[in-house]
Amino acid sequence: MSAKKSPKTNTPKTSSPGRIVATNSTSSSPVGEYERAGEAADFIFSQTNLRPQIALVLGSGLGAFADEFAAATNIRYANIPHFPQSTAIGHAGRLAIGKVDAIPVAGMQGRVHLYEGYSAKDVAFPIRVFARMGVKAAILTNAAGGIKREFVQGRLVVIRDHINLQGVNPLTGPNDDRFGLRFHDMTSAYDRRFREMAVGEGNRLGIGMYEGVYAALPGPSYETPAEIRYLRTIGADLVGMSTVPEVIAARHSGIRVLGISCVTNAAAGILDQPLNHLEVLETAERVKGQFIGLLKAVIPRIAEAIA
Ligand code: HPA
Repeated sequence: MSAKKSPKTNTPKTSSPGRIVATNSTSSSPVGEYERAGEAADFIFSQTNLRPQIALVLGSGLGAFADEFAAATNIRYANIPHFPQSTAIGHAGRLAIGKVDAIPVAGMQGRVHLYEGYSAKDVAFPIRVFARMGVKAAILTNAAGGIKREFVQGRLVVIRDHINLQGVNPLTGPNDDRFGLRFHDMTSAYDRRFREMAVGEGNRLGIGMYEGVYAALPGPSYETPAEIRYLRTIGADLVGMSTVPEVIAARHSGIRVLGISCVTNAAAGILDQPLNHLEVLETAERVKGQFIGLLKAVIPRIAEAIA
């Protein structure tokens, strides 16, 4: 996963070593994450009259769905105060606010990752912005390697649970009670009703849906075959480099989560061939139509559930 440019956030400059340095900080910016997320939310609301309660994070190669939103306003991450900018190939770096089936939605075309040099807090910041916008449900999508044998290339898998092996958590540090509790529950991080809806709609569309456990690693190197054998032993069905910090932040703020992985490749060592990012993007491109069909079917159901 190569990067086009070095990561930049729009967060205020700080002198701490190793911290990503801001590009367009404003001297009037309050320092707290809650206030920064509020500023970003206010900016987004100044660009559109829509007030979405459903947000989507569209992972590698899956951003095209947002191009189909009706009456869309597209906002580049670079223009949103404090928003981190994606540097990964296949991540456009745009927030689209528009409608799916007359339902207002916010769609992130691309996300940022730890492997780009961002902190877990930076990675989760867009979710904080969604929380400040009043979003009630988030659909997080990603590309993943399939560990379970049935999870072959092109399979869409609803995430039932995750294993955080990234070694970081976006909630590390002082807790802001305005977002959520210091110690929040992760027993049902992936909403049971949303999962049932996604599996049901997928099966109705003839997609043949599965559920699985997603293990998140920091990347950017793909795993070794020994690591994949270890992940299978500890109960992982899928492996990827994203989503978990966002899910933790979403649940912290009471946002209900649906996670869907597109299996873009068999995990390392399962097939007798090396992994490459091109294959990931090509598979995502190939199943895009199916993925978009599933999202279109699920969004109205989620809208009903959160009404
Ligand atoms: N491993 C980690 N991340 C991934 C993979 C993988 O095999 N495929 C897509 N993202």
